[in-house]
Amino acid sequence: MRWLVTGARGMLGTDLVDRLRADGESVIAVDVDELDITSPGATAEIADIDVLVNCAAYTAVDAAEENESRAFTLNAVGPQLLARAARRCGARMVQISTDYVFPGTAAQPWPEDEVLAPLSAYGRTKAAGEWAVRSEAPDHLIVRTAWLYGAHGRCFPKTMARLAGERERVSVVDDQVGQPTWTVDLVDLIVRLVAAEAPSGTYHGTSAGECSWYEFTQAIVDSMGMPGSIVARTSSESFQRPAPRPSYSVLGHSALERIGVAPIAHWRERWALAAEQVLA
Ligand SMILES: NC(=O)c1ccc[n+]([C@@H]2O[C@H](COP(=O)([O-])OP(=O)(O)OC[C@H]3O[C@@H](n4cnc5c(N)ncnc54)[C@H](OP(=O)(O)O)[C@@H]3O)[C@@H](O)[C@H]2O)c1
Repeated sequence: MRWLVTGARGMLGTDLVDRLRADGESVIAVDVDELDITSPGATAEIADIDVLVNCAAYTAVDAAEENESRAFTLNAVGPQLLARAARRCGARMVQISTDYVFPGTAAQPWPEDEVLAPLSAYGRTKAAGEWAVRSEAPDHLIVRTAWLYGAHGRCFPKTMARLAGERERVSVVDDQVGQPTWTVDLVDLIVRLVAAEAPSGTYHGTSAGECSWYEFTQAIVDSMGMPGSIVARTSSESFQRPAPRPSYSVLGHSALERIGVAPIAHWRERWALAAEQVLA
């Protein structure tokens, strides 16, 4: 199979390209210097591919509040152009989306077909990207992920590990709940969905289980051999940020279960495996 990976030097893209090459797949790996996904001219030249995975995005959640138009160009117009190119090539389009398309006000995992109601500019632009892909590329997989961490980029565990090394105590919010998800696991899910020829639609690519950022930080310091007592609980109210965060951002996995594709395992089990590589 011939794969095109955009945003290939990002946190997810790097692991995806490594995995595909290790599997012996034919991969064209491009980032903004080789293929700017917002360029109609560049995307019109895409040819001879079977699967297009878009890992490029505007991911600066807080900065997007001030730069929504730039975020929209990257997160909605870019995916639209790529989806159009995929359809022209007869290729399958895989678009990575986010839990931030939901408001996080429920107390139960969000089903894949829940009505979208993003709280933030980033969430609005990613929701628009989903709709653009659905309308341009009938053969698509939209894979929503959340709380992503990996070896090849800035991520929450690396930040917490650094702070734990610098400070006597680290304060972390305990009133936002989600599913820490390893890029390696999301990559594996994408590969399995494509191999299974999953029906076009929206799937949730997050770990099983749930925890707060505070609980995740406890697991991070534990894997560093540090005592959990250095992590203190705080609340979103005392840790204000420009973009509002969903408080309950847990995604359900019914769509995967329906098609017989196993969801990612429990976040705690996966973190135990990932920690050494991610914090190296
Ligand atoms: N990180 C998370 O916690 C998280 C959570 C939920 C969903 N997601 C989604 O997961 C996907 C992957 O995220 P990630 O964390 O791997 O992102 P990332 O590390 O920020 O990677 C994005 C890549 O896209 C590149 N890019 C920027 N503008 C581009 C353009 N115009 N054309 C082509 N490439 C461009 C970036 O290059 P530069 O670095 O040079 O800008 C970067 O290499 C995204 O769709 C994101 O929305 C992430």
